[in-house]
Amino acid sequence: MDRLVIQGGHPLRGRIRVSGAKNAALPCLAAALLTPEPVVLSNLPAVADIRTMVKVLQALGTEASLASEGEGFELTATLACAGSEDPKAPYDLVKTMRASILVLGPLLARFGKATVSLPGGCAIGARPVNLHLEALERMGAVIEISHGYIHASVKGRLKAIDHTFEKVSVGATENILMAAALAEGTTVLRNAALEPEIGDLAQLLVEMGAQIEGIGTGTLTIVGAARLHGCEHAVIADRIEAGTYLCAVAAACGDVVLDRCEPEHLRSLLDLLERTGCVITEREGQDGRQLRIQRECGQKLRSKDVTTLPFPGFPTDLQAQVMAVMTQACGISVINEGIFENRFQHAMELERLGANLRTDGHTAIVAGPADLTGCTVMATDLRASAALVIAGLVAQGETIVDRIYHLDRGYAGLEKKLQGVGARIERVGGGKV
Ligand code: EPZ
Repeated sequence: MDRLVIQGGHPLRGRIRVSGAKNAALPCLAAALLTPEPVVLSNLPAVADIRTMVKVLQALGTEASLASEGEGFELTATLACAGSEDPKAPYDLVKTMRASILVLGPLLARFGKATVSLPGGCAIGARPVNLHLEALERMGAVIEISHGYIHASVKGRLKAIDHTFEKVSVGATENILMAAALAEGTTVLRNAALEPEIGDLAQLLVEMGAQIEGIGTGTLTIVGAARLHGCEHAVIADRIEAGTYLCAVAAACGDVVLDRCEPEHLRSLLDLLERTGCVITEREGQDGRQLRIQRECGQKLRSKDVTTLPFPGFPTDLQAQVMAVMTQACGISVINEGIFENRFQHAMELERLGANLRTDGHTAIVAGPADLTGCTVMATDLRASAALVIAGLVAQGETIVDRIYHLDRGYAGLEKKLQGVGARIERVGGGKV
């Protein structure tokens, strides 16, 4: 099993090229099920979850090929879904990546039936899918759950609905948006999630011939089409990957330019890091927007409170990373996790590195600055792993991060990108992603 070995205490200086967004790529891959024509998706991050989703699509009767791009951190997928008699997303794939639930809406819309394993919970929470199923039932789907599988079918086409989600949900918005693209009539989705990845999915659907109004707002209006066509689409840059590297510099000091990221997708983090004392500048680069972050060695950080919220609030996927930053800030930082019920597993591991913090339910209290010293820590989920790497970059001495298959699910070339800005970090152990 791979592990990362980090010698901490070295500032980060140089440039990092941000890869495509995993959480945009996954729904965009699922959207390829909506047409028999080839869909070419580029700027996909070369991470395990993308390969898993391609395997799920292949199990559902999709011709799929993956080609490496650039330095090998991005992939281009060419997909054509002729479909299969009895589309089934198998448990052994779905259990490794709960985003497989995103094939349910497209399969029902295209083929009128689907069998998808219930994703089950994960380290950060129960992760129910009731919001997805309720909306699909309102669209006419008959849904039965047995033996851990969702069995769904609809006679004829799904029907358009005027639907208000009782809770903001990224995945439910994406699933129903894709289902509505082929439904009969005009669907209105209210209290829809606003995450940029949903805007990217909507853009792809429009490029496939869908008619969607209200992109970027909480009310989406989708005129169902009889069929959609193929297209080529590059997914947006990964705001969470970019935010992770910004947190790494905020914690470990240095001066780094991020290429190809979208500052508008990171406003809440940029504002927070500026308020701690980091200097952030935005400019136009050769291939897209750039962000530069500076924190001089020895410069004190101001502690700040954080509450995670749906976009444009502070993203839950950066909560663990910012906790690692606040272990270095002067004073007390209160961090409230407003989205998931169990997303503080990184806290105990940060304590092992010397962080001074306490958690109580959805709240963590971090006191800093703490002198971190290297030791072996264990990754428990994707973003917790990133927080441990950030803390390892700060800790004096050697930190070993175990179980980094969690990291490989969502970060393309993390150790190589950090080596490129001077981090002493190596991957050891066999096995490739
Ligand atoms: C997406 O998960 C992301 N994953 C998550 O990123 C991210 O943390 C999350 O959105 C919130 O931003 C992908 O895009 C693949 P939700 P998703 O539905 O869609 C509850 C990462 O690290 N809920 O917005 O599953 C749910 O329990 C991952 O990249 C229901 O109650 O999140 C949670 O409390 C982790 N019923 C809240 O809503 C439902 O049917 C928000 O979940 C669905 C969700």
